[in-house]
Amino acid sequence: MCGIVGYVGAKSAVDVLIGGLKRLEYRGYDSSGLVVAADKALHFVKDTGKVRQLETRVHAAWPQAFRQRVGMGIAHTRWATHGAPTRENAHPHSDQTGRLALVHNGIIENYAALRQQLAAKGHTFVSQTDSEVLIHLIGELYKGNLFEAVCAALKHVEGTYGIAAVSVDHPDQIVAARKGSPLVIGMGENETIIASDVSALISHTRQVIYLDDDDVALLTPAGADIRNIHNVPVSREVAQVDWDVGVAEKGGFEHFMLKEIFEQPDALSNTLRGRLDEQMGTAMLAGLALSPRELAAIRRVVIVACGTSLHAGMVGKYYFEELADLPTEVEQAAEYRYRNPIIHPTDMVVAISQSGETADTLAAIREAKQKGALVVGICNVVGSTIARETGRGVYLHAGPEIGVASTKAFTCQLAVLLMMALKVGRARRLSRQDGLEICAQIKRIPDLVKAVLDRNAAIIKVAERYATAKDFFYIGRGCMYPVALEGALKLKEISYIHAEGYHAAELKHGPIALLDEHAPVMALLNNIAGKEKMISNVQECRARQAPVIGVLSEGDRDTATHVNDALHVPLAPHLSAPIPTAVALQLFAYHVARLRDCPVDQPRNLAKSVTVE
Ligand code: M6R
Repeated sequence: MCGIVGYVGAKSAVDVLIGGLKRLEYRGYDSSGLVVAADKALHFVKDTGKVRQLETRVHAAWPQAFRQRVGMGIAHTRWATHGAPTRENAHPHSDQTGRLALVHNGIIENYAALRQQLAAKGHTFVSQTDSEVLIHLIGELYKGNLFEAVCAALKHVEGTYGIAAVSVDHPDQIVAARKGSPLVIGMGENETIIASDVSALISHTRQVIYLDDDDVALLTPAGADIRNIHNVPVSREVAQVDWDVGVAEKGGFEHFMLKEIFEQPDALSNTLRGRLDEQMGTAMLAGLALSPRELAAIRRVVIVACGTSLHAGMVGKYYFEELADLPTEVEQAAEYRYRNPIIHPTDMVVAISQSGETADTLAAIREAKQKGALVVGICNVVGSTIARETGRGVYLHAGPEIGVASTKAFTCQLAVLLMMALKVGRARRLSRQDGLEICAQIKRIPDLVKAVLDRNAAIIKVAERYATAKDFFYIGRGCMYPVALEGALKLKEISYIHAEGYHAAELKHGPIALLDEHAPVMALLNNIAGKEKMISNVQECRARQAPVIGVLSEGDRDTATHVNDALHVPLAPHLSAPIPTAVALQLFAYHVARLRDCPVDQPRNLAKSVTVE
């Protein structure tokens, strides 16, 4: 997820673009850049870091008189997906002639093949991005009409995009196109703006047109001519935006956390995109870069992480043991780094971190590398320290996570762990048939999550009944045990309710002493192995008058008779069931916190990235 803004009109394009980028910074903030057309040339400024740095650079590079008279340009704030967050990889990118430029959100899946074809025709590339390949392709097909060249190029593209392109030959035109990556046009007076969301443009106009997939728009100061990729005009309604800027940044959601919870079907689709091999029944994880022989030589998996990522690792243990037949240990990273752990050269140490900057996880991988283990990262932030130091690994592609409470990163981490275990498993003992079955299960995950989100209203009702609780217990068994820990963490960190997660069997060994009518229990009762024992545990809780909320598989009427309230999730196989279950618990925690008027996105005492030990 990155931010795009483009402007053509009578104002200073530079001011509009920088202002727009600042509003879009929540969508990506590792590098940014802009290009403007003036004096028969394109002028670029790009930088790594925040938009503030870009602004300083722009002011140093371009005198005020120049900035004021330029009336067209496009800009981008990046969240790296292909290539590290460097100046070369920052957008806008130009074609081989330097006369066309492009900003792009999304992923061009066939970029490697396109890049090869263009290289054979003499194109040279300065970045590692898929986006640069696209503008070279547009340049290759450009015969003086930018709109036609963009349409022609997009016919060769597989993947998703929201783009804005400009040409030095047409300093009063921007061509924008969308497939899978949102774009909205602002219709001002003698000015037209394009942006990846309305927050970037509502200080200029509230009249907007949302582009649909496969739309291509020619923007001039007079307005927008919208067609499809085959150059056939399409009609799109002009809408009136009545949100304020703060709400607009959050896409209409009250908090980033809620927005990120609802983004999960898309985030998961991005995580899975192009990674399942449905012929061989395995996963294609280029970043893992290990041959089947090397994978077969692994004797043990050790997962190191903190917080929510640690809980993901605990679910991952079930995946590696079941699919890859590999003994798996999960270690709190601080404990691992200070314990002088036993590490063998045949160990695969997997570091999981959304931010890629967590100090203890970083120190743990340094220790593992020092002792000769194979170290692999699972990170969300491209180019983060852990991603760089592990050297090999798998990115989540979940997009930036702004809310301090980790949500979409967790479910995407589970999806990556499942694919990783599948890939390692196929190099060891998993049959093609079994691999195909797992692929089919993984493919369904975004839809399972959608089904939970559709039940938001029902989850709110349950949250209303429990929002005043002072203590909460979460219990689960098997791969739902770590999900119980994660559910309790979500609730405590954003609602400040004391919440503890336990293995359901552990209750009797002490915690049950705390149960009474004031201590609700969230019991993960999905229709998977261990459910009967879970029901016994629930009966023990209810015998102590503790109200029980059950997370139940859709349609499980029998189990519903054992609980006071229920959160329903779709029936799912045990390997993928933790994902929709976690989403239901995220929503529950969110609504409880909201009802208690808690500052959901910035809970007290917490930071998004824990870079100190
Ligand atoms: O960036 P990381 O995944 O390494 O962060 C680890 C924890 O700090 C993080 O998951 C934390 O527990 C979250 N606030 C949980 O919502």
